[in-house]
Amino acid sequence: MSRKNLVDIARHVIGHGKAGTMEQADDVMKLKASTYYDPDQFDQELDKIFHRLPILVAAGCELPNAGDFKSIEVAGSSILLSRGKDMTVRAFMNTCTHRGAALAREDYGNKSRFTCPYHGWTFNQKGRLVGVAASQDFGDFDKADYGLKALPTHEKAGLIWVVINPDSTLDIPTFLSGYDDMLANFGFDEWVYVSKRTFKGPNWKIAYDGYLEYYHIPTLHGATFGTDSTNRGLYYAWGPHQHIKSPAMEKGHSATETLGYMADIADKPETDWDNDTLTFGVWTVFPCTSIACFAGGGRGVMISQILPGKTVEESITTQYYIMEKMPVPEDIDAANAQFDFLQEVVMREDYATGYTIQQSLPKSGMDHILLGRNELGNQRFHQWCAKVLAADTDADLNTLFAESERGVGIPKLAAE
Ligand code: FES
Ligand SMILES: [Fe+2]
Repeated sequence: MSRKNLVDIARHVIGHGKAGTMEQADDVMKLKASTYYDPDQFDQELDKIFHRLPILVAAGCELPNAGDFKSIEVAGSSILLSRGKDMTVRAFMNTCTHRGAALAREDYGNKSRFTCPYHGWTFNQKGRLVGVAASQDFGDFDKADYGLKALPTHEKAGLIWVVINPDSTLDIPTFLSGYDDMLANFGFDEWVYVSKRTFKGPNWKIAYDGYLEYYHIPTLHGATFGTDSTNRGLYYAWGPHQHIKSPAMEKGHSATETLGYMADIADKPETDWDNDTLTFGVWTVFPCTSIACFAGGGRGVMISQILPGKTVEESITTQYYIMEKMPVPEDIDAANAQFDFLQEVVMREDYATGYTIQQSLPKSGMDHILLGRNELGNQRFHQWCAKVLAADTDADLNTLFAESERGVGIPKLAAE
């Protein structure tokens, strides 16, 4: 089913490539300029987006073995992920239930039990409180009442989503809208985690906008990807999640994997279209993740997670580099050069420009910005943010995602 979708998409991309055309949004969209700097809106986003929606917090291959754990901060909340002996990943608030100290301080490790560094309370991989020093001093209390706060967790397609609300009733598969079946084409559960890099950026939506369109590529990235890079993107959506490919037809261009050129298979019979090429391009996972393909040192993807910082003007990006196979010694230099290249492009080109937006927009006198008919990915992203902010309850969100369309932009064949 999903390979068929990939073939349908590639056929659509190649058709536009040969015709020199692209799809367009129905209209130009005006977006309130303050969406990028209003502190009240930012607070709403923390509550209604980051503490209600499933957030992609890890690739499964970051915790490949029983007992592996990861700690991560997401929008001010400290989260602990732990893979149990049963190989199930569970997520908890990384907060000791005695007096609130952070339990795991390392980014990654392997433990069968987590002992709090403050007074030594100990929790098992299922979050149960199993050890209390001098427990007689706590009177008649039931340890079962003091387990770690568990968070809804879902591992699928080799990726891990967590809802940072222990009381959530949001249905994660409904939220994924079938996009997880598309992502499963990569086979990430068999891949390996290689490296990560973390750095700051401007407002999370200014930063994330750059992952949602190709319009800026030949201008902003002229010195790195080339002034002959594509500026055309085709956008396919499953609920709020979007995949971007380009109808550019230059063969062997340096942007082929990352931006999803289908030129290299355009003249081959469809039966010879290989899975690697069919998955090329950018896969964004709402609300704040982008997965982009690369080929340096072997087949890999950069998973970029763009999280809000402490204020409306700050974001924190972590790039996770995962690869189909661990690069062998002769490929490690090429892989590291690829990671350096991608980090440099994002920091020195995208985010350096994003900071100028952050600085100048509030005092510019502009009450809106424009998203062109060629910036459909950004239009959809901001429309989805507005829909989520407008939804009052998890039940409303479940309805919203259940009713959203899957495979938007893929032409339906007459036979279907
Ligand atoms: S705060 Fe963790 S044991 Fe006291
Ligand atoms: Fe960019």
